[in-house]
Amino acid sequence: MKIAVFVSGGGTNLQAIIDNTKDGILKDVEIVLVLSSSKDAYALERAANNGIPSAVVSRKDFDSIEAWDDAVVSAVKASGAELVVLAGYLSLLGPKIVSEYSNRIINIHPALIPSFCGAGMYGIRPHKAALAKGVKVSGATVHFVNENYDEGPILLQKAVEVLPDDTPESLQKRIMKECEWKLLPEAIRLIADGRVVIENNICRIR
Ligand code: GAR
Repeated sequence: MKIAVFVSGGGTNLQAIIDNTKDGILKDVEIVLVLSSSKDAYALERAANNGIPSAVVSRKDFDSIEAWDDAVVSAVKASGAELVVLAGYLSLLGPKIVSEYSNRIINIHPALIPSFCGAGMYGIRPHKAALAKGVKVSGATVHFVNENYDEGPILLQKAVEVLPDDTPESLQKRIMKECEWKLLPEAIRLIADGRVVIENNICRIR
């Protein structure tokens, strides 16, 4: 299966996918495009280091959402990707890419949706919010993407304990290591194997 991975920053989730295509559970998966919302994303270097084609398609370089959305769709179509994976991608996708790739876009979110998600909840912020609320477990969620932030059908979730002396940074690190870097490759594996069915907005794994 050919996939496009969308990024905005450091790209550790991209790295987890790359590693799994080399000697892990994604040997038959090919990353045909890394699309970044920012030219400064370190994820672009990870793509270059692994010979993966990349593109920067930044909202601020376009006059309208429509023109930017068209450019995103064109890049994905040209790559031949069958699945789009948002791996730390921080822009809200435009309506055209969401409808043309309906049920073929997944996102990883660093909290247990429906907690600590939605507009403005990205990066370190869900972890700060989780600690401020005093929750005893948090984790990560892989879900399909619709036109709203963090709202589509949930595919996989994994939880970790929140420890009494956690900081947002320590919690973020544990969730990345124990949840995100495993969950996202696992979600791609399930989709590549045709094991995911969506009925009435609910994901089932066959
Ligand atoms: C990850 O923790 C990811 O879950 C989060 O951004 C980080 C990106 O790290 N995504 C969101 O907050 C989306 N709402 P990475 O660039 O090292 O993969």
